[in-house]
Amino acid sequence: MTDVRTRLVAAGYDAMADRWESWSNAVADDPREAWLESLLMLLTPQAVVVELGCGNGTHETRKLAARTQLTGVDLSREQLRRARERVPAASFVQGDLTTIEFGPGSLDAVVAFYVFNHVPRELLAGIFGRIHSWLRPGGHFLAALGAGDVQGWQGEWLGVPMFFSSFPPKTNTRLLGEAGFELVRDEPVTISEPEGPVTFHWVLARR
Ligand SMILES: C[S@@+](CC[C@H](N)C(=O)[O-])C[C@H]1O[C@@H](n2cnc3c(N)ncnc32)[C@H](O)[C@@H]1O
Repeated sequence: MTDVRTRLVAAGYDAMADRWESWSNAVADDPREAWLESLLMLLTPQAVVVELGCGNGTHETRKLAARTQLTGVDLSREQLRRARERVPAASFVQGDLTTIEFGPGSLDAVVAFYVFNHVPRELLAGIFGRIHSWLRPGGHFLAALGAGDVQGWQGEWLGVPMFFSSFPPKTNTRLLGEAGFELVRDEPVTISEPEGPVTFHWVLARR
């Protein structure tokens, strides 16, 4: 983990794990369960799945672990400690999604909820290409991507220094297409965060 922005995000999620937990529990209108269901319908039993930026062991991580062979990846040691405790059926790896590697064609699906908006956006093209290469032909990528036109924002969030970055949906769509993905479904969805409404770009894409 060499990028200073990535180190900042990792340290932030280690330090504010309790605050993150109560903040995220207060988010309303999150469509993740419905999107996850539409992915699960496409997966065979014991599909091999990776969840990037898995966080602290969410309801969706538990659901994925009950139905697939799941590996969760996260930068934050504390988020992973909680995830391991809550979801013993999954494997977890401390790693950076901008550099981690999986074997070519080795995965049936990659899932990522609300993590790419913490990744410097100039890295997204390369990351989408790597995710595409990890998937078997016909494999799926489900993600809630950032939707704002934000080159890089660094400031205090939930009491810690934090970094955000994202492209608007049109650019996300172009980059996914250039990486070789076919979009099955994609929609901007607005959720209610404690500070107000925020829009994310939900995508279900197929290799
Ligand atoms: C907004 S939280 C979302 C957590 C979980 N997916 C959820 O929906 O509750 C973002 C998570 O992504 C992790 N993260 C951020 N950047 C990452 C990166 N480059 N590689 C791996 N994990 C990352 C953070 O540590 C944090 O746990």
